[in-house]
Amino acid sequence: MIRTEASDEERQDDINQCLERSFVSELTRVDTPAFVYLDAVLEANLDEYLSFLTPLGVDLLYSAKPCTLDFVVRACARRTAGIDVSSPGEAQLVREILGGTVPLHFTSPGLSARNWDVVADVADYVNVNSLSMLEWLHANESGPRPRLGLRVNTGHSVAADTRYDPARPGSKLGVPPVLFEEWVSEVSDSFISGLHFHIGCESSTYGATVASLTWLMQVAAPLLAGLEYVNIGGGWLRPSGMDDLDDFCATIGKLRACGVQSIFTEPGTGLIRDAGLLVTRVTDVIDSGVGMVAVVDSHVGHAPETFEYDWAPDLYAPGNEVIAEGGYEYEVVGCTPLAGDIFGRYRFPRPLEIGQPFFFHLLGAYAFARAAPFTGVLLPSLYRITQAGELVAVKDPEFSWYRDLWRTNAIDQA
Ligand SMILES: Cc1ncc(COP(=O)(O)O)c(C=O)c1O
Repeated sequence: MIRTEASDEERQDDINQCLERSFVSELTRVDTPAFVYLDAVLEANLDEYLSFLTPLGVDLLYSAKPCTLDFVVRACARRTAGIDVSSPGEAQLVREILGGTVPLHFTSPGLSARNWDVVADVADYVNVNSLSMLEWLHANESGPRPRLGLRVNTGHSVAADTRYDPARPGSKLGVPPVLFEEWVSEVSDSFISGLHFHIGCESSTYGATVASLTWLMQVAAPLLAGLEYVNIGGGWLRPSGMDDLDDFCATIGKLRACGVQSIFTEPGTGLIRDAGLLVTRVTDVIDSGVGMVAVVDSHVGHAPETFEYDWAPDLYAPGNEVIAEGGYEYEVVGCTPLAGDIFGRYRFPRPLEIGQPFFFHLLGAYAFARAAPFTGVLLPSLYRITQAGELVAVKDPEFSWYRDLWRTNAIDQA
């Protein structure tokens, strides 16, 4: 059973037990590397977000960019007020997966005169990233179109690492605070139905969201009174782990009192991150002369953030569970020639053996989304554990994925 409102540690215990029941006994028929997604975790996360947001009158959207797998998008669409997408391609794919009725919200700095028609065709809401793009739409767009919102950089940051911080000074994401204040004090026909901000990244506090809304209510009260919606973005984790909940609830009440009809939020990571794991097997154990190294049949190209941000994912090793101290230490590495292809250092009670399965936790978001078949190691296969606990293979890796990437129509010159 997957508990809602559990701590991260309790959640990982629940997931490990579920893997033990539904996956470990099936390992002989599983191809690794693989991603496995647990339906029950996604549903528990949806329950948790909805039971917090629904009484507040805040509508939940799923931001599809961390994981756009069709069964995930469909599961989220069934229980949310819509899907947030971030490129014309993602918008077209999600529309194709869901058909015509589920509202699509499009938010991207990549919106341009060249792709506007494609976006306008499939999206119901478009959050424009800049005043120049808004002016272009004002001047060029007259036909039926999606509702338009303006993305604002409120300047209230939560991410400590500036590489992750959409609200940093100089950010490309949204109209900067000073320019927004000037614009809002001068504009007579704003041409927009909504405002949007997204300032978070794996945030567990509402402090910056409260500060952002308070600032908006100070500088844009007359505009807010006529708006159909405000979208407060995503980037925040499960409600049970959030700080400043009371302030947040009070501030949402004040925003509604300003006259805004709908308030949206669009987390992605918080809904899907712990629902997905990367499954690998140890294929070789090497004595490097200064320590032991375990090679697995995956690589950091299957989980790029572990490499880019120097982050060792939590690891579940059935039958030889990771310990904090003592035991046998290994550097767990990927199978490519990249020297930096390292998942992390882990300790185990017993020496590792070839074939030992590893489950890397918290890789449901942005891992498969950004995975690459570096050096011809194919993308991982995909499995799903249904609510009933059944392990289902949903996609096999194909050599053609890799071939299509590199083969071209080029004709060599003599
Ligand atoms: C506009 C917007 N909304 C929502 C999200 C989802 O953020 P997260 O996956 O951190 O919840 C992102 C992520 O980049 C985003 O850019």
